[in-house]
Amino acid sequence: MKEYIDELAGQIEAYSITNTATLEEFRIHFLGSKGVVKELFSSLKSVPNEEKKEMGRLLNDLKIKAETKLELFKEQLSSQEKTTERIDLSRPAEESAIGAHHPLSLVRNEIISIFSRIGYVVSEGPEIEDDWHNFSALNFPPEHPARDMQDTFFIEKGEKEMALRTHTSSVQVRVMENSTPPIRTISPGRVYRNEAISARAHCFFHQVEGLYIDKNVSFADLKQTLLYFAKEMFGEKAQIRLRPSYFPFTEPSAEVDVSCSICNAEGCNVCKYSGWLEILGCGMVDPNVLKACGIDPEVYTGFAFGMGVERIAQLKFKVSDLRLYSENDVRFLKQFTPGV
Ligand code: DAH
Repeated sequence: MKEYIDELAGQIEAYSITNTATLEEFRIHFLGSKGVVKELFSSLKSVPNEEKKEMGRLLNDLKIKAETKLELFKEQLSSQEKTTERIDLSRPAEESAIGAHHPLSLVRNEIISIFSRIGYVVSEGPEIEDDWHNFSALNFPPEHPARDMQDTFFIEKGEKEMALRTHTSSVQVRVMENSTPPIRTISPGRVYRNEAISARAHCFFHQVEGLYIDKNVSFADLKQTLLYFAKEMFGEKAQIRLRPSYFPFTEPSAEVDVSCSICNAEGCNVCKYSGWLEILGCGMVDPNVLKACGIDPEVYTGFAFGMGVERIAQLKFKVSDLRLYSENDVRFLKQFTPGV
């Protein structure tokens, strides 16, 4: 009998199952009411008394072995089921919740894409600037009111007084200082002004600066470039008009209006019934600026322009309150999520 028990123990050890049917076979064969273990227990009667205790113990061990194996098989099957479930290739994909681009990012990216199609590359500069890059190199006289505490946030940085840049024109200076013409670049970025926050003004906003320097660049090139931009951004019907203006870093300078896309230039409360909306400032780079940045104004000419991203976004998305852009109200942001 002892040999038989050993043999059965070996069988249990070597047994393997593949599914619930073979699991059931194992259970019935070893542990069922007519199974081998039960049978052995009933034949214990005919074992000589002096061996009974030893045989009883061996049989108990065998029973435990079979039960343990049964539990193991059950676990094996259920974990197998779980893995099969995870790799079910026919299962429809779960929809993943994707985030959305901020409306200002959408507009900035569109501006970049429009200018990159005519050869402009993106350049960036620091938001904490020195006086030279934000003002002096751009031909701001020392007493110019734009340097006044009213407009500029000044900060102490070690010995040096620095400022939060008030416009992205500072990046023009950095690009001209560090490269040789031809230069065709746009510089998107955040700028800061010391303004009281309201629906129409904010202490930070975003601009995209443009710069083109080469031999024989003319005001006609500037005008055509801006017309191309307006049509790409606001549609084929868009028109522009240039009004003479003043900026220290350009001569001549102009402000540019685009025909109102909200009322088709017929007149509405956004364009104040004029049919035109101001979108940017521009001009031919002042020879003093070229000189300050190491470019010979006798050889090269160029134009520059600067536009407000919020302004363009306002026209595209009809958002009238600037504060909405930085409040992160999900109800506002959701409106720009595709498919929501
Ligand atoms: N920097 C000007 C501003 O902040 C915008 C601007 C005007 C940029 C004319 C230019 C330019 O490059 O030529 O309002």
